[in-house]
Amino acid sequence: MGSEVEVEARRLFSRLEHVGWSEEDCALIAPMTLEINKLKQEQDAVILAHSYQTPDIMYGVADHIGDSYGLSVLAQRLPQKKIIFCSVHFMGETAKILSPEKDVLVPKPAGCSLAESISPEDVRALRAQHPSAGVVAYVNTSAAVKAEADVCCTSANVVEVVAAMPQQDIIFIPDEYMGLNLRTLTQKNIILWQGRCIVHKEFSPETVAAVREQFPGVKILAHTECSPAVVARVDFAGSTSAMMNYIKDSSDEEFMLATECGLTDRIRTEFPQKHIVGSCGLCPYMKEIALKDILTALKAPTSEQIITIPEATLKRARRALDKMFALTAHTQHKKAKH
Ligand code: 13P
Ligand code: SF4
Repeated sequence: MGSEVEVEARRLFSRLEHVGWSEEDCALIAPMTLEINKLKQEQDAVILAHSYQTPDIMYGVADHIGDSYGLSVLAQRLPQKKIIFCSVHFMGETAKILSPEKDVLVPKPAGCSLAESISPEDVRALRAQHPSAGVVAYVNTSAAVKAEADVCCTSANVVEVVAAMPQQDIIFIPDEYMGLNLRTLTQKNIILWQGRCIVHKEFSPETVAAVREQFPGVKILAHTECSPAVVARVDFAGSTSAMMNYIKDSSDEEFMLATECGLTDRIRTEFPQKHIVGSCGLCPYMKEIALKDILTALKAPTSEQIITIPEATLKRARRALDKMFALTAHTQHKKAKH
């Protein structure tokens, strides 16, 4: 048995040992995860963590782990009125747009190189240049940019959303590589913006080739934020959840993931029989968040931890997200039946 802290340390170790944490490391954080989990219950709060968070957050305090799309939809459905969204700021904003009546907090107001690459003025200028084009905003954008778009999309539904748009010309913002990938995956004329994910742009075709040579038979998966040259050479490209599902359903044992290291941590923890090779990338924005910030958000939240969006912006951004749900309703219905 042992003390409450010892029991908590053992619970943590049973998960974190898969990603190299020692029993001593787990004992050090156990008082804090205990305190967070107690406060969470007292306040009827729910903690959501994106798959790129650190393992102590994902397996120590999170109630749900997932991708940007799945977590925001879940936030809407959950009964709790307080949501601590452990991820970058735009994901907290998306949850707030979908659940304006709830208190949504982010432990740190962390940025994202894609979200920071474009402003609402940039979108208005693009529209003026291409008046007959539809505007599709990737979810990695601020609420103010979403408010300027016709529709939003995520990496989980981007192809479906773009293909379903009535216009042939599509302004796709802000991820240039995803836009280039869409030129191959859809019949649309994609007008690009020069945003890049600082993590995914670093993977190269040379890395893919080197890993294949070193590990014959390896299955290589990439996020669709990687360059077209990488996407063309991998076995599967998709969102973080789609990559998780691919590995879960695969009988193969050896994989390389061209994405952020949080996802490889998830695979090592949740599918310890699978073997991950090669390198992954660290997102400095996602990794800004630490357990102590979650504790502050629960005990005495600062104004920058509380998500607030001006009502007019929220309503316009909501329209773009609702259009995304409408365009993908058919697939969502099919998925729900299975
Ligand atoms: P997902 O939408 O797949 O969760 O990805 C978000 C992200 O920031 C990828 O870099
Ligand atoms: Fe943004 Fe890239 Fe980090 Fe995702 S991994 S949050 S796209 S910088």
